[in-house]
Amino acid sequence: MIIDLGKRDLITIEDLSNREIEAVFRVADQMAENMIEQFGVCRGKVMASLFFEPSTRTRLSFETAMNRLGGSVISVTDIGNTSLAKGESIADMARVVGRYADIIVIRHPWEGAAKVVADYAEVPVINAGDGGHQHPSQTLLDLYTLKKKWKTLKGLNVALLGDLKYGRTVHSLVFALARFGALMNFRQSPGVEMPSYVLRKLREYGLVLRKYPNVNDSGSESGSTPFDVIYVSPPNQARLPMETTDIDIQIKVRRGGHDIEVMKKVDALYVTRRQKERFKVEDGSDEIDKIYPVVDKKLLQEEKYRKAIVMHPLPRVGELAYEMDADPRSMYFKQAGFGVPVRMALLSLLLGAKSADMPERRQLSFVEKKEFLTYEMDTGVRCQNEKCVSVQETEKRYIKPKFEIVSTTPLTLRCTYCEQETPPEYLPSLYIASSKWHQGLVENKRYYKADSFMLGRIRPENLIIFGSGEDARRQGFKLGKRAV
Ligand code: CP
Repeated sequence: MIIDLGKRDLITIEDLSNREIEAVFRVADQMAENMIEQFGVCRGKVMASLFFEPSTRTRLSFETAMNRLGGSVISVTDIGNTSLAKGESIADMARVVGRYADIIVIRHPWEGAAKVVADYAEVPVINAGDGGHQHPSQTLLDLYTLKKKWKTLKGLNVALLGDLKYGRTVHSLVFALARFGALMNFRQSPGVEMPSYVLRKLREYGLVLRKYPNVNDSGSESGSTPFDVIYVSPPNQARLPMETTDIDIQIKVRRGGHDIEVMKKVDALYVTRRQKERFKVEDGSDEIDKIYPVVDKKLLQEEKYRKAIVMHPLPRVGELAYEMDADPRSMYFKQAGFGVPVRMALLSLLLGAKSADMPERRQLSFVEKKEFLTYEMDTGVRCQNEKCVSVQETEKRYIKPKFEIVSTTPLTLRCTYCEQETPPEYLPSLYIASSKWHQGLVENKRYYKADSFMLGRIRPENLIIFGSGEDARRQGFKLGKRAV
C-alpha cells in the first residue's frame, strides 16, 4: 500500500492516520541510515519558516531538515519585521507566502493560527505550535522516540506530568498515544491540570478515564505535594487500572482505608516545563511555582520507574534536574535529535518528494474519533478563548465562527480553530431557534434561551444559536412565550 501525503497539511495530530504516522517513521528510519544520500530529495523546493514565538529545536531542526534534503529556507523570527505588525491579516500573509514557498512551517501564539494559514495558503502547512493548542510534529518525534526504545506503542504505560494545562506538546501527544493503544496517567499538579476539552475528546475516543484526587505518590516525590491522577485506558482494557492483571504498576491510592494498587510500572515519564508565557494573572503563577513537580534521582529511585525512559520536549527550566543527564534512562537530548530525521521525512512526504510503501496490515488504530455536526452561521456566537485566532481584531473581519456541537445537554460548542469549548457560564447569554419552525413566516420566527427545555425540541441540524437576544432580534426573531 503506497502512502502518498503530497499536498497535505499537518495542523493537528488527527490530520494523520496511524498508518500515515508509521509511514513517516519508515521514511525517517531510511533517511537516518544515510543522511548524506538525502541531499537532493527536495532540490529546488523552498520552505518558509515563520516563527512568531521563540524556538530553538523546532525551527532549527526543520531548517536543518530542509537543508539536508537539498532544499532552501526563507525565514522570519520576529513578527515586528513582518507586515503583520502593520495590521496585515494572517490570511493575507498566508496567500502571499504560499506563492513564494512550496511548504510553510508556522509557529504562532494564537490558537488556531496554523489552521487559518492552511485554509488560505495553496501549499502544505505544518503547525509548529499554535499557542497552547497543539504541536503535532513534536508528537511525531515523541512517538518515534518511544518506538525506538520499546518497539511498540500498544500497551505502553506513559505518565505525563508538568504543565498539562498549557503544554501543547501533551495536547497532541495524548491523542496519538490513545490511538496507538497506550495507557496513560496524567499526574495533575494543582493549577496546571489537563483542560476539560482534552479530557472530553479522549472520552469521545471511547477511552475510560478514572480520576483519583489527592494522591501522594508513596510520599517520596520531591516536594511531596499531593496531585490528582487520571488513568486513561483503551476501551478494551477498561478494567486495567483497578484490577490489574498483567500490567505492572505501583502507585498506591488510599481509598476507604485501603491501598488500591493501580499501576505497577511506568515505561515513559513525559515531563514538561511550566508554560509561563501563557499564564494569566488569575492562574496565580507564584503558587504553582512552589508546588511544581521536579523529576530527579530521588523520584526515579522508585521501583516503578526502574526501566522508565525520561522524555521532555525541552527547554527545561527547573522541573528536570541536571543530575538526570547522566542517567541512562534520560532520553530528552536523543529525543530532540530525532527531530531532524522525523522532520526530513515529514517535509519530503508532504512535498510529494517521497512516498512510503507500507504493508497491508491489521487495523492500527485502537479507538475511533467521533464526528459531530458543524455550526457555521454568523449569528453572534463567538469563541470565548481570548487566545483563539478567530476572536483577534485583525482576523475576525474575515473568519466566520465555526463550531462542532459536541453536546446539547447542556449546549456545548467546540471551536473549530482552537478546539476549546464554550464555558458553562456563557450559556445564559445564548439563545436558540429552529430554522424549520418559521417556514418563511416572520410571525413564526421565535427565539428561546439556550438553557431552556426548548433546546431538546430542536434537531441539531436545524439549530440556530444567537450570541444574545439582540442578535436574535436583529435577524427578525421575537422572544418566544416559553422562553424559560
Ligand atoms: N520542543 C520545542 O518545541 O522546543 P522549541 O520551543 O525550542 O522549538
